[in-house]
Amino acid sequence: MDLTLSVIGCGYLGVTHAACMSSLGFTVIGVDTDPDKVAMLTRGELPFYEPGLDSLLAQEVKAGRLSFTTDFSAIANTDVHFVCVGTPQSKDGLAADLTYVKAAVAAIAPYLKEGALVVGKSTVPVGTAQSLRSELTLTAPQADLAWNPEFLREGFAVEDTLKPNRLVVGVVNDRAEEILKEVYEPIIALGTPWIRADLPTAELVKVAANSFLATKISFINAMAEVCEAAGGDVTVLAKAIGYDPRIGSRFLQAGIGFGGGCLPKDIRAFMARAEELGAMQALEFLREIDAINLRARQRVIDVVRSKLSEDLTQYKIAILGATFKPDSDDVRDSPALDISAQLQAAGASVVVHDPKGIEPARKRFPNLQYSSNVLECVKDADLILHLTEWREYRELNPSVVGTLVKSKIIIDGRNVLDRDLWRNAGWRFHALGRSD
Ligand code: UGA
Repeated sequence: MDLTLSVIGCGYLGVTHAACMSSLGFTVIGVDTDPDKVAMLTRGELPFYEPGLDSLLAQEVKAGRLSFTTDFSAIANTDVHFVCVGTPQSKDGLAADLTYVKAAVAAIAPYLKEGALVVGKSTVPVGTAQSLRSELTLTAPQADLAWNPEFLREGFAVEDTLKPNRLVVGVVNDRAEEILKEVYEPIIALGTPWIRADLPTAELVKVAANSFLATKISFINAMAEVCEAAGGDVTVLAKAIGYDPRIGSRFLQAGIGFGGGCLPKDIRAFMARAEELGAMQALEFLREIDAINLRARQRVIDVVRSKLSEDLTQYKIAILGATFKPDSDDVRDSPALDISAQLQAAGASVVVHDPKGIEPARKRFPNLQYSSNVLECVKDADLILHLTEWREYRELNPSVVGTLVKSKIIIDGRNVLDRDLWRNAGWRFHALGRSD
């Protein structure tokens, strides 16, 4: 391959993109300001858990195509620069914090060579790309800027990057599109749809997609609330409406709702931006999506109280799952951890198990008690709360678990456990959105 690539920001998105592009044959240099992270990545070690990415990273570093540095001047001979830094929610409001994106573009600007293309991949409020591009015309007029949003899911990051369901590029001219077509040529060859858009549309595609997904989840959780009130079963309802291809069955899993580093902050940042644009009325519904989502956490706590007592101080609650979803060690805005902390604050004795997320969880909530062994976690529990749908929990034997607990009460916060199996083993089984 003739083109050389850099990836600015070696977090979740950046490392995935860097390793995947390297696996396509490109020489890739990853730049990050954190020396510890860079040292780890240079040894070929992944600082977080993501299935398949650890071996791919090690393989690419070993092959010599992929390297990491803290030195921005190392990008001077590189053609295409992917900006993959985080855009977290601001500390003082709903808007996205653009500090890192602006700093990244400013840091590379002095080193951009003639004809270099800066490609934003971070999720940003609409209008950001245009303003960064205008700034570059002053600081690095020899370079151009495009936007290429990323749709990967944690747990499937490598697959989603190498076999995405579409590629979206926001460009201002044909040359930028041609360069990106060259980068993604092997992926385009798989038949991947290619969508050329202008800069604002490319930025909007990303937040629109995440808003739609969040809406689907909150829709089914709203139906769960109605099912609970009316004595219905949301899992049957979801299955039945999902057969209509216009609705589709995916992302209709009712439970404790969405978390993670993307959906919650993206819908909030979208609302904040719409407000600035004078278009808030159009996104008013997202406020309700957020509220339904947060209410799901409260609903599960209400169920716990209804099964035990208003006063939780005498009870041990075993929590299965800390991460915001399975196959990830990400605990950012995790509903499971939020619920655990709230139950502990209410006086319950809480023990949390997770196959991969205990250390990140401990950093966020050092006062919670953790157990690395699921059978130890449930020992003498008055109630088990299943909050993250790791496969390991689906494979538990209810009879064996029943011999360890104090009382056989389980609440399935994700609607994936086999209710009949648990009930046949003598358990009181409750799931959100299903009458007992
Ligand atoms: C999400 C999007 O799915 C990706 O397309 C996007 O690229 C990514 O955000 C991003 O913006 O970077 P991710 O955060 O990895 O990906 O997680 P999802 O698989 O979307 O799950 C989000 C949350 O929704 C999880 O807490 C999950 O448990 C919950 N969820 C998902 C449900 O409660 N019900 C469902 O039916 C599906």
